[in-house]
Amino acid sequence: MGRAKLKRFNENSSRHNILQDDKPIYKHLKGNWNKDFFKVDQPITVEMGCGKGEYTVGLSKLNPNENFIGVDVKGDRLWVGSTMCIEEGIENAAFLRAQIQLIEDFFSEDEVSNIWITFPDPRPKDRDIKRRLTSPRYLEMYKRLLKREGWVYFKTDNQKLFEYTIEVLNERSDIQNLDYTFDLYTSEFVDDHHGIQTTFEKKYLAQGIKIKYLKFQFR
Ligand SMILES: C[S@@+](CC[C@H](N)C(=O)[O-])C[C@H]1O[C@@H](n2cnc3c(N)ncnc32)[C@H](O)[C@@H]1O
Repeated sequence: MGRAKLKRFNENSSRHNILQDDKPIYKHLKGNWNKDFFKVDQPITVEMGCGKGEYTVGLSKLNPNENFIGVDVKGDRLWVGSTMCIEEGIENAAFLRAQIQLIEDFFSEDEVSNIWITFPDPRPKDRDIKRRLTSPRYLEMYKRLLKREGWVYFKTDNQKLFEYTIEVLNERSDIQNLDYTFDLYTSEFVDDHHGIQTTFEKKYLAQGIKIKYLKFQFR
């Protein structure tokens, strides 16, 4: 491991806004985020696969009366979002180092008001379909975590993953208010994404790739 990465990992251990398995609170977060971590009862939005956490940080600044949690396995990326929050004194955002397939170990039913899925790995191989963050097993988890009328927002550069996701959603009978665009920046939804661009989004935009966006609620 490089020295810079190691330094970030060491710093993460002493940061209050990084929740990882070396912190006592880590195993007790489920159902208790507002009471024990944020210490204020506000709607919670979770960013799945947040990387450096641009949505978690950006939305927390726009919505001080809500709480935001970015989830990723990569500690060195979470360090970046954590640093932005520390430098700007943001207290309504946190970063959870965890595998999303275990997300139900960290949130209880109805604990979450909204979910953002930002540029997830496309997992193009057939054998990896189950690992796509919009595959049926993940949708079932999101449904259990979300409050009624909670929204799922999804941004991607990847045409195939986007088409796959629309197909999966259309096959279900419990989806409502599904809206989507294959070109966010020329669409009527351009204000929906709050002008926030992630690290991966910027990379794809520079390559001239159109950004796809969708949102829906579970019934
Ligand atoms: C393509 S990157 C996108 C990062 C960020 N959302 C962005 O748009 O810049 C995908 C991120 O998802 C994370 N990730 C992928 N699968 C995951 C899983 N099962 N659990 C937690 N994080 C995951 C990766 O570590 C990576 O940081």
